[in-house]
Amino acid sequence: MGVIDRTPDIETRRLRLRAPRMDDAPRMAELCNDFDIGRMVSGMPWPYRRADAEDFIARCALADRRTDAAFLIEHDDEGVVGGLGFRTRPEAPLEVGYWIGKPFWGRGIASEALIGAMAWAGRDWKKRVVAAGHFSDNPASGRVLCRGGFLYTGQVRLRACKARGEDVPSRAMIWLA
Ligand SMILES: CC(C)(COP(=O)(O)OP(=O)(O)OC[C@H]1O[C@@H](n2cnc3c(N)ncnc32)[C@H](O)[C@@H]1OP(=O)(O)O)[C@@H](O)C(=O)NCCC(=O)NCCS
Repeated sequence: MGVIDRTPDIETRRLRLRAPRMDDAPRMAELCNDFDIGRMVSGMPWPYRRADAEDFIARCALADRRTDAAFLIEHDDEGVVGGLGFRTRPEAPLEVGYWIGKPFWGRGIASEALIGAMAWAGRDWKKRVVAAGHFSDNPASGRVLCRGGFLYTGQVRLRACKARGEDVPSRAMIWLA
């Protein structure tokens, strides 16, 4: 596989997934400074400030494009509405995660973004296996992952949640190209 030198754009019916830019930091901070997002993801700080968004965006720019890819989700009418990222941690498989700003929940945006991202990951990024997980008290994300083609492995593991400050049971899922 050749090295991808920039994060590509992924287009879906209503959405464009593209690399975050430093001028996205205020919008990211506005949407992510929400405990209902932080409590459902593993590593996002809460409260979430503009400096947290700037750190995140700076780290994305330095990431190895063979193993990591971060996108913001832009809606045709609403601008940036969320984020989706693939990352590889030491000794762990490639994993996908995402969030959608609360004003935009329940409109099929996470599902549409994930379906588009998985098509790209298999077809263009040439990935064959992607893991994901959702906290047991987050069935909506389970629905999104099922629609994205993920299956439950049956494993439930405790995972740290930074915003809650505790470990939370997480249901493991897997996608195979
Ligand atoms: C989970 C999240 C990404 C969903 O985003 P969204 O754009 O509203 O998702 P969609 O509209 O594409 O789909 C949500 C699905 O969950 C279902 N759903 C919503 N609330 C639910 C609940 N309490 N129980 C079961 N299913 C639920 C919806 O009916 C929909 O399924 P359907 O399309 O089959 O009807 C969003 O709520 C979010 O960002 N939450 C906080 C962060 C997070 O959870 N990230 C994922 C971590 S694993």
